[in-house]
Amino acid sequence: MMQPVMAALDLPVTLRLMSDADISMLHDWLNRPHIVVWWGGERPSLETVREKYLPRVLAQDRVVPYIGMLGDMPFAYAQSYVALGAGGGWWEDETDPGVRGIDQSIGYAELLGKGLGSKLVLALVDVLFTDPNVTKIQTDPAPNNLRAIRCYENAGFRSEGIVVTPDGPAVYMVRDRPPKK
Ligand SMILES: CC(C)(COP(=O)(O)OP(=O)(O)OC[C@H]1O[C@@H](n2cnc3c(N)ncnc32)[C@H](O)[C@@H]1OP(=O)(O)O)[C@@H](O)C(=O)NCCC(=O)NCCS
Repeated sequence: MMQPVMAALDLPVTLRLMSDADISMLHDWLNRPHIVVWWGGERPSLETVREKYLPRVLAQDRVVPYIGMLGDMPFAYAQSYVALGAGGGWWEDETDPGVRGIDQSIGYAELLGKGLGSKLVLALVDVLFTDPNVTKIQTDPAPNNLRAIRCYENAGFRSEGIVVTPDGPAVYMVRDRPPKK
């Protein structure tokens, strides 16, 4: 089994929008221990995943869900959101409507730590900056999620210190829009 996975690591990492048909795959991923530990701490039921992650549900909170693709294999979940007005106690000091936030997780433990997360974040940053209204991209890994923090640094994010979010303390990391060439 090792060889096909290693060969696949050279395939391009891209993103596509998530659809309703991806929900059972997402449910499987969100129940895997390597994600549970960093993503809510609980094993969500299929019903809960449907209630929270169907694209039309997320759209109500201006969250866009994506599936990360390794070649033609779905391998990761990612989402972007508008920080201003996120509600629920999130990003209450934000005043800039151009700030987008991102989160992502790789679905398969055997694919962690191989550079795919860094490529996925770079791909998502590129997608988001195609919108001229986007000024800055932020993310908020847990302070002890050193692998995620390093992954974001690989993708050009810098830490601006610790913030307190409704999910607890987080490292506030940002990436500005690249200067025009
Ligand atoms: C976070 C996540 C998306 C990162 O993707 P990834 O493919 O594993 O990350 P990459 O391999 O691109 O980069 C990880 C970096 O962290 C480093 N790293 C790995 N474990 C580490 C640790 N315990 N401490 C410090 N650095 C660590 C790696 O060496 C690598 O850095 P390098 O490229 O400079 O060598 C992925 O690990 C994941 O899905 N984790 C589980 C869920 C999760 O944490 N989601 C994120 C919530 S914010």
